[in-house]
Amino acid sequence: MVELLHRGHNKDGFDCSKELLNNYLRNQAGQDVKRKLSACYVLAYGETKSVIGYYTLSNYGIPISSFSTQIRKRLPGTYTTIPTTLLGRLAIDKSRHGEGLGKILLIDALKRSWENSQIVASYAVVVDPLDEEAKSFYLHYGFTELPDSGKMFIPMRTLDELFTI
Ligand SMILES: CC(C)(COP(=O)(O)OP(=O)(O)OC[C@H]1O[C@@H](n2cnc3c(N)ncnc32)[C@H](O)[C@@H]1OP(=O)(O)O)[C@@H](O)C(=O)NCCC(=O)NCCS
Repeated sequence: MVELLHRGHNKDGFDCSKELLNNYLRNQAGQDVKRKLSACYVLAYGETKSVIGYYTLSNYGIPISSFSTQIRKRLPGTYTTIPTTLLGRLAIDKSRHGEGLGKILLIDALKRSWENSQIVASYAVVVDPLDEEAKSFYLHYGFTELPDSGKMFIPMRTLDELFTI
């Protein structure tokens, strides 16, 4: 079950093989949730509620100039910042890589972002891949690169096709 991180979760043993993402979960995620800076959703199992995967979501404004000319043509010039949803981090414990859990968490994050965008508008889901491996994971799922930023995005309208029943 995917749920918001709370004090009952056991996150100390989490290891996705990327120290930045391990440290974030172990040392900062709880504080960020409390301060309303980021929502951290976790996949946990067993009575000990050991975390085997997590992702974070927050609101994120992107300067309109960050988008390609082709996309900017379709956006009103009166907007200097485009509202988006940041899927800031996504990680699975390395003992469980390759079992389809990353896909499950990614789809959960996209669906949650899409549902939220029906209430508070968001143009796209943006990700900030740590390295080439992460970039290739998001490319696999149809994310497009945002020029000159290292970030990638998928338009909310693309998700309409996936999640509208
Ligand atoms: C990237 C990560 C989340 C993938 O999780 P996972 O559970 O191993 O991936 P899954 O088993 O769900 O794979 C789902 C699909 O993605 C593909 N995939 C997995 N990692 C991939 C990668 N690095 N590049 C391209 N495709 C990848 C799989 O082949 C699979 O494809 P298929 O469904 O077409 O067969 C995991 O490797 C991880 O936690 N890495 C460290 C943290 C990280 O880099 N996070 C990225 C965002 S910052």
